[in-house]
Amino acid sequence: MMKYQVIRNTKYDYAGQSYASLYPNLHKYPATMLPQIGVDILKEVNAAKGKLLDPYCGSGSSFASGLEYGLSEMHGFDINPLAVLISKAKFTKINLSSLKKAHKDFRNNLFEFMKDENNIKKLTHPRITNIEYWFSKDVISALMLIKHFIDKIKDTSIRNFFLVPFSETVRECSYTRNNEFKLFRMKPNDLLNFNPDAVSFYFKKWDDIFSLYSHFYFPKLENNVTVDVYHSSFQPRDNYFDVVLTSPPYGDSRTTVAYGQFSTLSNEWLGIDYARKIDGMLMGGTKPARNITTGIISDYISRIDKADKKRARDVSAFYSDLGNSIVKVANSICKGGKSIYVVGNRTVKNVQLPTDQFIAEKFEENNFKHLITYERALNNKAMPSRNSPTNESGKTANTMLFEYIVICEKM
Ligand SMILES: C[S@@+](CC[C@H](N)C(=O)[O-])C[C@H]1O[C@@H](n2cnc3c(N)ncnc32)[C@H](O)[C@@H]1O
Repeated sequence: MMKYQVIRNTKYDYAGQSYASLYPNLHKYPATMLPQIGVDILKEVNAAKGKLLDPYCGSGSSFASGLEYGLSEMHGFDINPLAVLISKAKFTKINLSSLKKAHKDFRNNLFEFMKDENNIKKLTHPRITNIEYWFSKDVISALMLIKHFIDKIKDTSIRNFFLVPFSETVRECSYTRNNEFKLFRMKPNDLLNFNPDAVSFYFKKWDDIFSLYSHFYFPKLENNVTVDVYHSSFQPRDNYFDVVLTSPPYGDSRTTVAYGQFSTLSNEWLGIDYARKIDGMLMGGTKPARNITTGIISDYISRIDKADKKRARDVSAFYSDLGNSIVKVANSICKGGKSIYVVGNRTVKNVQLPTDQFIAEKFEENNFKHLITYERALNNKAMPSRNSPTNESGKTANTMLFEYIVICEKM
């Protein structure tokens, strides 16, 4: 028997709908939330038309929901620079003719520069680990060239916009397997046939992203809308926010969704020198001295501990970080404000962890009342639904077939 009530709600399944049906993403990102969930849940809880917070905003789906619902002040945090780049690009209003003009100048300057082959030799080399393992020589030159001209763009928002197709070009023109979130190199046979023209690819991506931005985002960004995205872990503000809408990670990045690994090459090309350390900096990345021994989650952790002490410590690290973060988030919401967390309950060592119950419990410990948790079938999220919870190769289990929408209210 679950302590905090869970109701299966098929309305939130959105069977057959994809992310793209409301706000197509400008850039691929792991474990995105369906913006439809946010829109409908904000309506259902009758959230105040005030300030929205997403403490783990990723590529910004919660802001899409907030915008659709009619909110005008939103704040987001993420430690992954790529996530911040995507969210900022989507929700910063940039005059479309300025973007087109910048594109024209950029293109002309770049092609003029390319006419003299010696020019390429003068470009600064980026600091990318094992660069020739991940990119062909031609792709490296093309990326250096594109980056050189992006860096020359003076306006920060426009420069940021140009970096989004750049990052997609880095991913898709690298030797990584593009249908994987982890950093794996293509098979040797695939490498032989892979010779992309990164410059053409960049311009094609630019056009696609511009078209999505100008159709789906720009028209909804009224002048009074502000979406502030911070490259940092959540910084509390006492009793400030009216609603929190977020989909936090569902486990540490090393054994679940590797946000850092997914973003490594992009982040390195963006000049982030700690790109390879990001997974260790995310939630659950640092191990605590001991396991969690109180609250709902403790029994589950001791069951894992019997099978594998190290995994139990990893799991404790994650819940300890999530719990500490909820304390700060709870203090930052004003009276009557709502918290909406969309989470998955993952399985470790055949123990399914009740993350939804943990979240409700933590909010209740911090002056909130749990209102309801909805269970929705997970058939859209781009993340592995099968993994190896025992860590024995070949042995898999269905882990996350459902997702939970945990709703609480501040007393
Ligand atoms: C499930 S994703 C959010 C996806 C987002 N809702 C979207 O649709 O793109 C979780 C995010 O939490 C971020 N994250 C993990 N630990 C964090 C921390 N301690 N502080 C801030 N962000 C963190 C990850 O980088 C990742 O982008």
